[in-house]
Amino acid sequence: MSPMSKVQSPGSENEEAEVSEAETLSAQTQRSAADFGPWTLDIGQASDFGLRVTDLRKSFQTPNGERVEVLRGASFSANAGEAIAIMGASGAGKSTLLQLLGGLEVADHGSIVAGEFVIDHASRAALAKFRNRHVGFVFQFHHLLPDLTAAENVMLPLLIARTNARAAKQRAARILADVGLDQRASTSLVGHLSGGEQQRVAVCRALITNPTLVLADEPTGNLDVSTGGEIAQSLVSYARSRRAVVVIATHNQALAELCDRTLSLSNGRLQPT
Ligand SMILES: Nc1ncnc2c1ncn2[C@@H]1O[C@H](COP(=O)(O)OP(=O)(O)OP(=O)(O)O)[C@@H](O)[C@H]1O
Ligand SMILES: [Mg+2]
Repeated sequence: MSPMSKVQSPGSENEEAEVSEAETLSAQTQRSAADFGPWTLDIGQASDFGLRVTDLRKSFQTPNGERVEVLRGASFSANAGEAIAIMGASGAGKSTLLQLLGGLEVADHGSIVAGEFVIDHASRAALAKFRNRHVGFVFQFHHLLPDLTAAENVMLPLLIARTNARAAKQRAARILADVGLDQRASTSLVGHLSGGEQQRVAVCRALITNPTLVLADEPTGNLDVSTGGEIAQSLVSYARSRRAVVVIATHNQALAELCDRTLSLSNGRLQPT
C-alpha cells in the first residue's frame, strides 16, 4: 500500500475513539454535531451531509467594462462519501466554482447548500466559521508558509480552531507520517521541500481538521504521475472513509477516473461525462 493511500482519518485529540469510529460504518453515520467542536455550525449529521448546487451564476467585470459570464446556471449534487472531478478547458470557470463552493466568492444567483447550511445566504461571520471548521482547501500552488516547518504548517488550522498546541503537534506528526513524510521532512522548512513533498503537506493541512467538504484545485498540477496519483488517491480515500464530499478541479483524466463521477464544465454549465 502506498503511504498516501493510508490517509483516511487524520486523528484527533481522542484518537483511539476516532479510529474505532472510522472502522464501523454505523458509528461513522452516527457522528453528531457535537463532534465538530467549538466551531460547530448546524450543518446536519455527517450521514446527511450532501452538497446541493442549483443554478449558479457568476460574472466578472473586465477592466474595459465588459461583463464575462463565467457560470451560467451550473447545478450538481454530491452525496456524503463521494469524490467528484470537475473537468473543463482553461478559463471554463473551475476555480471560480470551487471558490463559490467554499464561500470565498459570492454568486450572482443560485443556491449552494452544504448539509443544512445555506452558503449563499450566510453572513460573513458564519461563512468564516463554516470554512474554518468544515472546509479543507488544497490549492494548486498550495499557499504554504515557506518559513514555517511542514509540521507547523499542518498544525495551523488546528491552532486557529483552538486545539491545544500539544495535541495539534501530535496530530500533525501522525498525518505527516501517514503520507510518508518522515521526521526530517516534518521538521524541515517547507521552502526546502520538493514540490511533491510540499503538496503532501498541503493535503495534510487541508484534511487535519476532518473537513466535511474538501475542495481541491489542480492538486496534482505540477507533480510526476506517481506522486500525483498517490495524492489523488488519498483525497478519494478520505471522501469514502470520512463520508465527506470531495470536489477536485483537474485537467488530468487519470485523476478524474479515480473519482466516483466526472462533471464537465462548459459554457458555464456542468454536465455528466
Ligand atoms: N476575480 C476575477 N476578476 C475578473 N475575471 C475573473 C476573476 N476570476 C476569474 N475570472 C475570469 O473567469 C474565467 C474563469 O476563470 P477560472 O480561473 O475559474 O478558470 P479555470 O477553469 O479554473 O481555468 P484553469 O484551468 O486555467 O485554472 C476566466 O476568464 C478568468 O479570467
Ligand atoms: Mg483554475
